[in-house]
Amino acid sequence: MCGIVAYLGGKAVQPILVEGLKRLEYRGYDSAGVALLGGKAIRIQKTSGRISTLEKILDEPKTEETLGIGHTRWATHGQPNTTNAHPHLDYTGKIAVVHNGIIENYGTLKKWLQNEGAEFASETDTEVIANLIGYFYANGDDGKERKRTDGQNKFEWAVQRGLGELHGTYGLAIVCSDFPDMLIGAKKGSPLILGVGDNEYILASDAAAIVEHTTQAVYLADNEMVTISSKGFHTKTIDNITVSKDLKQIEFSLEQIELGGFQHHMLKEIFEQPKSLSTCMGGRIDRQNNRIKLGGIDSYLRELTRTKRLIITACGTAWHASLVGEFLFEQLARIPTETEYASEFRYRNPIIEDGTVVISISQSGETADTLAAVEQAKERGANVLGIVNVVGSSIARATDAGVYLHVGPEIGVASTKAFTAQVAVLTMLAIELGRRKHISDSEASRYIEELSMIPDKVSRILGQSDSIREIASANIDKNNWLFLGRGFNYPVALEGALKLKEISYIHAEGLPAAEMKHGPIALIVDGMPAVFIATTGPQYDKIVGNIEEVRARGGKTIVLATEGDENITKHADHLITIPDVPELLQPMLTVVPLQLLAYHAAVLRGHDVDKPRNLAKSVTVE
Ligand code: AGP
Ligand code: GLU
Repeated sequence: MCGIVAYLGGKAVQPILVEGLKRLEYRGYDSAGVALLGGKAIRIQKTSGRISTLEKILDEPKTEETLGIGHTRWATHGQPNTTNAHPHLDYTGKIAVVHNGIIENYGTLKKWLQNEGAEFASETDTEVIANLIGYFYANGDDGKERKRTDGQNKFEWAVQRGLGELHGTYGLAIVCSDFPDMLIGAKKGSPLILGVGDNEYILASDAAAIVEHTTQAVYLADNEMVTISSKGFHTKTIDNITVSKDLKQIEFSLEQIELGGFQHHMLKEIFEQPKSLSTCMGGRIDRQNNRIKLGGIDSYLRELTRTKRLIITACGTAWHASLVGEFLFEQLARIPTETEYASEFRYRNPIIEDGTVVISISQSGETADTLAAVEQAKERGANVLGIVNVVGSSIARATDAGVYLHVGPEIGVASTKAFTAQVAVLTMLAIELGRRKHISDSEASRYIEELSMIPDKVSRILGQSDSIREIASANIDKNNWLFLGRGFNYPVALEGALKLKEISYIHAEGLPAAEMKHGPIALIVDGMPAVFIATTGPQYDKIVGNIEEVRARGGKTIVLATEGDENITKHADHLITIPDVPELLQPMLTVVPLQLLAYHAAVLRGHDVDKPRNLAKSVTVE
């Protein structure tokens, strides 16, 4: 996602845009820019880097410019550089656009526009929007559809005609140099709010950029647009049908709004997971044809299908996701797979035979050890694929190809939505490779069907947040916890332990449950919390036995079980349930209660959840 701000009113626009963009920087921060309109010319100033970098290049604000649009980017199409930064100008130089979202059919439209003579400067999908509107503005009504009604403003019509061609999502702010008193906003699938002040208007991606100017707002719905001038505003559908919108009061404080009403970014990101998983899998699960489409690695799918060995390398939470991936590739695609800590892999003179494929996983795409492991693997002749969240990051650029998570910026230092998205990508890839090699179409179809229901099942788990807080509260005084799982939930036990450690500072150890009796069971003392993932699966009876081993020694059992499991109740001091899914899809669900457990423990201990001591969001040092 990214941040959009636009202003039309009586004040000098540049400082208003910059301040608004700062309020939205958490939404995306790889490049930024503004387009100002005072009189007949559009003046664009933009740069890669953060808004602080933009401030350094901005000319002195000119008071006659009282209309403008601004953007802080989270790149999805095209490197985060100055050329790809927004705003984008159309080829006629009359239309400027800032965009939040993804245009899925931008490639087709770009080719058509180029054939019609439009020139492009950037790699972005957004520039297609600018050129599409510019094309229709320059060429007028082509009579094909969305005819211009008598007296309809030509700029407004060109916007409607252009938007009619788009597939995908957008939040847009658009200006035209022929209309220095007009600002248009449009929304489909990405947020856009209109702040209505005293003869001034602010369009923004969220109210954080509005609330210091006005608390009166109009919330646009999908397929709606707003045309604003100094005489007022009117709202329509993009099919030119007038819609009346009520003014709503913005209730939140600025601080809350930046967090979307959540107390911390981590909690916001935990609760974002139904949406982030849908976004991550959206457009990639083709239930119609029983296929998974991962465009970024299309050209490597044959090699992946043939490969004799896979190595997955990462750090921290991404390493835990990698371990889930190892089990998935071996079970579904029968490909021998190893998970390697990047920090070890890079120094161990790794053996990489011909045909080995290496996958590197990193949310930030900047982790030094993982980047070094990628370089090592390439030097030894491996093709290296990336599973990364930050577009255009170092690891994304260093790998031969890859799959972006598309879950938006993850701000909380403790990784949550990135983990479930990483597992989702690995699951999709393993199903596709399995379908090509071993599993039947009906088995693949069942997994694809189950996978598409995961976001809703995550939502159901989030509803237990309050009871999970009670469990944390009942055990908050204990300084040593165990996390235990088997099979696909063994990596989740490791992840749960890491979450608790890194934000509550409680020592915790994750283990394969059967390993407890090979030493760690000596740790069990009266009241010691042991978190068990005891969901339905081939090792259910075994893990129930492990639970009893802990209870027999006075340990306190916190048990994750499958909804409807009546047997487990007598083994659990505390019970958390998750909806039933096949074992290999459980990690995306069983991790969520552990994220909440860690979050609540940290809050109850009074810690800075989003910026825990000694940690950084991205470990760019070795
Ligand atoms: C996870 O909560 C931690 N913040 C940390 O382990 C993190 O997963 C690790 O540093 C890897 O980061 P990356 O995914 O950005 O490479
Ligand atoms: N898809 C557009 C781009 O990559 C907008 C991304 C965003 O929402 O920031 O520039």
